[in-house]
Amino acid sequence: MTTRVHKIRAPRGERPSPPSSLLIVHATELLTLKGIAGPRKGERAGDLGLIEDGALYAEQEFIVDVGTTSEVLARHPEATIRIDAAGKVVCPGFVDPHTHPIFAGSRAQEVEWKAQGLSYSEIAARGGGILHTVRATRDATEANLVRDGANRLRAMSALGTTTVEAKSGYGLRTADELKILRAIAQAGWTAGIDAVPTFLGAHAIPPEFEGRADAYVELVQGEMLDAVVSNRLAAFCDVFVDEGYFSRDQGRRILTRARDAGLQTKVHADELADSGGATLAAEIPTASADHLIHASSEGIEAMARAEVVAVLLPATSLSSHLPFADGRRLVAAGVPVAIGTDFNPNCWCESMQLAIALACHHNGLLPAEAIVGSTINAAHAIGRASEIGSLEPGKLADLLVLDIPSWRHLGYRLGGNAVETVVKRGRTLQNRPGP
Ligand code: NIG
Ligand code: FE
Repeated sequence: MTTRVHKIRAPRGERPSPPSSLLIVHATELLTLKGIAGPRKGERAGDLGLIEDGALYAEQEFIVDVGTTSEVLARHPEATIRIDAAGKVVCPGFVDPHTHPIFAGSRAQEVEWKAQGLSYSEIAARGGGILHTVRATRDATEANLVRDGANRLRAMSALGTTTVEAKSGYGLRTADELKILRAIAQAGWTAGIDAVPTFLGAHAIPPEFEGRADAYVELVQGEMLDAVVSNRLAAFCDVFVDEGYFSRDQGRRILTRARDAGLQTKVHADELADSGGATLAAEIPTASADHLIHASSEGIEAMARAEVVAVLLPATSLSSHLPFADGRRLVAAGVPVAIGTDFNPNCWCESMQLAIALACHHNGLLPAEAIVGSTINAAHAIGRASEIGSLEPGKLADLLVLDIPSWRHLGYRLGGNAVETVVKRGRTLQNRPGP
């Protein structure tokens, strides 16, 4: 595997500076998520690193100290900002490892078609689906995509997401894919959260290439990828390997080329049918394989050996009326598991809290495993685990104060917002009064 690290271009503008220091004390439960170096799996899949009566001290953007309140106060008695978290839970900001937030138009019409029993493929055949969104997005200006995208990312951050992976894939032409990737960077900066950009040129075959899938694959792995890399617009490359979209061989061609060009890789794998996506993920190996509803046993075993993170997307199963991926089977096989919202025009879900609850109720994850999956394992899925995903000295001060008495309420409450305060890079983004 290549060791070359691809550096992405910084968006325009200065970040507002954080307060010089921040102290959080008396958290009834402080979830550090501190643990082993790699992604958490098997018997460790639910390790929360819980500290009772916990405290955290940060300077500027970074965490300096974590421990019990008496330990931390003995070392750092003063700070510019002090938050008392008595009766509350403090945890790392959620990392949403799979979203498609930059698009134009809406697919609200499709809810009626779904209610009438049409499948994802039938809706696409009727003129809905990805290509419907591609038409609207090609027509949209970059400024409008940034405005709408920033609003969506703000809604996510109010629900506790402090870092989001965001994919292109509604342009499917070089200029439009670049437009979307630039909009991802600018929308993240505007919303005040970190957006990790992923090039998903292989999201669908555009109409002008109908019946010529291999010619489109050539365009993606040639001109498009070259432009994405030379403009430093993406950290990852992803491919939708599934029935009616791209084959395993086409996925292999694109991902191998992307990897050799210095991008990290991931796969939309086996959402609609077993298409060999999980096996391909292990072969490359990619950082993550996402969806996995129909993944084969061989694919899952190969992912465990290659330590590919499985990203489960339960809100998509809900909104597309699909089965839920078997999270228990993945944990039992030793695959590290993460959770994402899959926010996209087919699945308008901004809430990692809802994704966590759905993962507990329908993917068979234990609540502690779902919290690991939305923090440290999600950070591994997007190649950022050295900076985010746990509360440890040296990492970014990305954290949440949750107005719940115990972490078990995260998997328990459906569709609300337990977030009282979001701290992003040491700066308070949102402060909601308690009930
Ligand atoms: O992850 N599966 C492919 N892509 C998205 C859906 C995109 C769309 O329907 O617009 C997903 O579910
Ligand atoms: Fe997706």
